[in-house]
Amino acid sequence: LLTTVVSPYLCGNFAPVQREVTSDDLYVEGQIPHELSGMLVRNGPNPRFSPQGKYHWVDGDGMLHGIELLLGKANYRNRFVQTRAFQSEQKAGQSIWKTGLLEPPQLDLAPNNAFSPFKNTANTSLVWHAGKLLALWEGAEPYEIQLPSLETIGPYYYQGQLTSRVTAHPKVDFNTGEMIFFGYYPTGSSHLLYGVVSATGQIIRTVPIDLPAGVMMHDCAVTPNYTIILDLPLRFSLDRWRQGDTAYFFRKDIASRFGILPRHGDNNSIRWFESSPCYIFHTVNAYEEGEEVVLYACRLDSTNCFDIPTEPNHQLDDRPRLHRWRFNLRTGDTH
Ligand SMILES: [Fe+2]
Repeated sequence: LLTTVVSPYLCGNFAPVQREVTSDDLYVEGQIPHELSGMLVRNGPNPRFSPQGKYHWVDGDGMLHGIELLLGKANYRNRFVQTRAFQSEQKAGQSIWKTGLLEPPQLDLAPNNAFSPFKNTANTSLVWHAGKLLALWEGAEPYEIQLPSLETIGPYYYQGQLTSRVTAHPKVDFNTGEMIFFGYYPTGSSHLLYGVVSATGQIIRTVPIDLPAGVMMHDCAVTPNYTIILDLPLRFSLDRWRQGDTAYFFRKDIASRFGILPRHGDNNSIRWFESSPCYIFHTVNAYEEGEEVVLYACRLDSTNCFDIPTEPNHQLDDRPRLHRWRFNLRTGDTH
């Protein structure tokens, strides 16, 4: 008797889409005003080949879906992000990487790439900045995407200025046009790089920020003058990972740390604030009010997001709640 356990994130409504489609001139009910023109693009994991190992729903290859509205017409197309890893698996006709977060690292498959030894799927999000659309994955370099075709131009290194991985959630300041980003390195000795890109797409700074340990850092927040770095106790362990356990584990005994630095600051100008242990995947907003920096985010008491799922939406005990933190820059208090 052979029993195959298929990830719930590969079945039913979660099943990957294999076809790349171009649908010009979609049927429109009513009329689309000509003033409403532009393109909405989303990104998400969508494995091209059956994974060899355990599948986590963030492991799949990036697939872009785009709806374009132009002069009263609507077009749709979807395309895989043609990362180097995707192309090598296409050539092989099967998956090469066992897969991602739930399997031990396959360092022997490391692409010849200074930014990551892991499979860069470019599957997590997109950012539009300085006239370029970039598909992002937090562990490596961005991929530049052509519009409106959604074809992949290739990895993007800011004319050779990029020396950091790029988070999937950089922040664009619509007043100054700057883009604020970071890259984290759970396995490295320096765990965090922080950077700012100018409105014209030049990287104007990349500086190291000291962290006590490697953590998973998914998002950040910005105000007009400050950046908020989230050093939360979802800690990385290479040893655990090598032994087949999950790479990250939540430490309920370690405080959350929030680092606030001037946008163009560095490790010398960052100030750390402590709060009860929690995890934050996504921030909502941040602003300055008097001597305080205020942060709103989705707060989890802990997270088991790296447990192996048995059914979709299994994470009932880590339901995020909207939470507000106030960091007083004069007194150093958090409340
Ligand atoms: Fe995210």
